[in-house]
Amino acid sequence: MPDSAFKVLEILERSDIPVSGEKISNELGITRSAVWKQINELRMMGYDIASSQKEGYKLTQTSNKLLPYEIHKKLRTQFIGKKMRYLENTPSTIWVGKQLCSEGDVEKMHGMVIIAEEQTGGVGRMGRAWVSPSGGIWVTIVLKPHVPIDHIFMITMAGSIAVARAIRKEFDLGALIKWPNDIFIGNKKVAGLLLELSAEADIVHHCLLGIGIDVNVPLDSFSPALQKQITSISAEVGHEVDRASFLARILKEFENHYLLIEGGEYETIISEWKSLSCTLENRVLIRTLKKSFEGDAIDIDEFGALIIRKDNGKLERVIAGDCTHQ
Ligand code: BTN
Repeated sequence: MPDSAFKVLEILERSDIPVSGEKISNELGITRSAVWKQINELRMMGYDIASSQKEGYKLTQTSNKLLPYEIHKKLRTQFIGKKMRYLENTPSTIWVGKQLCSEGDVEKMHGMVIIAEEQTGGVGRMGRAWVSPSGGIWVTIVLKPHVPIDHIFMITMAGSIAVARAIRKEFDLGALIKWPNDIFIGNKKVAGLLLELSAEADIVHHCLLGIGIDVNVPLDSFSPALQKQITSISAEVGHEVDRASFLARILKEFENHYLLIEGGEYETIISEWKSLSCTLENRVLIRTLKKSFEGDAIDIDEFGALIIRKDNGKLERVIAGDCTHQ
């Protein structure tokens, strides 16, 4: 958001009564026509601002867009989300992350959150498309992690734990994690996570953690086939919810868990992931690029691999693939 629009908004938020254009222009040291320009800018971002020649401007409704300003008001993190990029519309926030990392100093972008109101080319796991209309949370967190490459998968685990915990705390819904990184409410998917890694030998240049959550998305934006498999937070609670508070909570939860990983506390992450898992102790069908098989999901190891006991008693370790509960 342009800095002066942000300052005008702060003045309007502080006041219960209308504020004259003259007062704002004096306080900010800008012309009255500049004030008017910023008011229009704020209106375009979705803030409802009433104006009258006699009294001035009054904020009547805050924006329902997922604007950095609204998230920052609620954010309690040390570094995650301290820097944000907001886009109304983009092919994919992961794609934006890749662009930014290829152009700039990744160390300085550590913790940056890229937010899109809508994605036109959202990507999911296994190269699938990810439908991302407005009303959802479509974000990518840029990280320059100090985590050994063989434990990088834990970052997705931390993300899944963060999303599940935030749904539970914010909306009192029984969200669980389906291996590898889907968030389910009942038997329907509400969110998915994706980790893109740029690494060479054992050096991780950067990681991009993409998080997609169907928050206030009307379910009829999806195909009939998808509608049978997914849900949204608003469909579960019966009304639209405040995405900014929800995202601020997810980012705080993620930071807490990310710091545990950097501190080498892998066991804590694994045991929390297990306590939120709906996959363990289930009969599952696994599809990897090479084969498909059934078995009982009995454990996950410290690298995030799912351990399956096949019907012949043999144990199989699955590091990547699709898992369907039978
Ligand atoms: C999955 O297949 O379950 C993972 C979906 C990940 C979607 C998110 S939305 C934000 C980020 N940008 C993308 O294009 N994909 C991820």
